[in-house]
Amino acid sequence: GLPVILDGDPGLDDAIAWLLALGSPEDVQVLGVTTVHGNVGLDLTTHNAGVTLALAGAVGAQVPVYAGADRPLVRPAMTAAQVHGDSGLPASGLPDPVRAPEAEHAVDFLIRTVRARPHEVTLVATGPLTNVALAFRLAPDLPGLLREVVWMGGSTGQGNRTPAAEFNALADPHAVRIVLESGAPLRMFGLNVTMQAIATPERMERLRGLGNRAGAVSAELLTFYAAVYRQRYSLPGGALHDPVAVAAVIRPDLFQMQAMNVQVETQEGLNFGRTVCDVYGVTEQPANVQVAVGVEDAAFFELLVDRLARLP
Ligand code: BDR
Ligand code: CA
Repeated sequence: GLPVILDGDPGLDDAIAWLLALGSPEDVQVLGVTTVHGNVGLDLTTHNAGVTLALAGAVGAQVPVYAGADRPLVRPAMTAAQVHGDSGLPASGLPDPVRAPEAEHAVDFLIRTVRARPHEVTLVATGPLTNVALAFRLAPDLPGLLREVVWMGGSTGQGNRTPAAEFNALADPHAVRIVLESGAPLRMFGLNVTMQAIATPERMERLRGLGNRAGAVSAELLTFYAAVYRQRYSLPGGALHDPVAVAAVIRPDLFQMQAMNVQVETQEGLNFGRTVCDVYGVTEQPANVQVAVGVEDAAFFELLVDRLARLP
């Protein structure tokens, strides 16, 4: 499979995204997972990374965990515990992490691994971009050595944490700016598509009905999440934000993409953390991002079910 590094902040949809990757060894080979502050603090996202790998059985047991940045570059840290629970993984009967995190820092691992395999590695980032930005600053050659960065974050339209900003972008806007200006090949999967991938009650039932632990845990996590989405967004279930980004690595054909110029607001104020996407090309600035503008939602969900079914 395609060599990938999974960088994120599990976080319940990060965990499901990583299970999708780990259930797809023919498509993606997970070289390592790197953790960042975000939905909950770094200690918890790192612990949850180990738990998620344990849920993936034999494949997960081989994957090392590297802890990364415990705070954003400039702004104060924020979390999303109201959406992901205080632990970040609100499910019962979770296994212990398969192994302890490595001593090496996530950013050093990223730099070392990408340099060892020039133009081969895909970095799938499903949290704040702090680790990625730090890696790009420490190793300016890195953006040119990655196969691509696939990021769940931002939006061509509304935000979810403020009216203007999506959570991952708002949690470290300065990091987003470094990545947008880096020249790295970048595909962005923002709320404008991920809010179309909803874990409805029928879909949660499908996952529970798989009869394996990965399906049962995913259904339980999504049930917790659904309450927030029903109340806040009047949607029938939670949005599968981060699994969309992993699906885009396995099945790029499920997405409609548009190249455009994207910038991020780093000034504090109403639009802090907003990804400003030039959908109509009005600025005539060069495109720096392939932005997802459409998703084949039914096929995406079938992919998720098919791959989770292969796990213990
Ligand atoms: C993103 O924010 C986090 O809460 C989710 O894990 C996802 O990565 C959605 O805005
Ligand atoms: Ca996330």
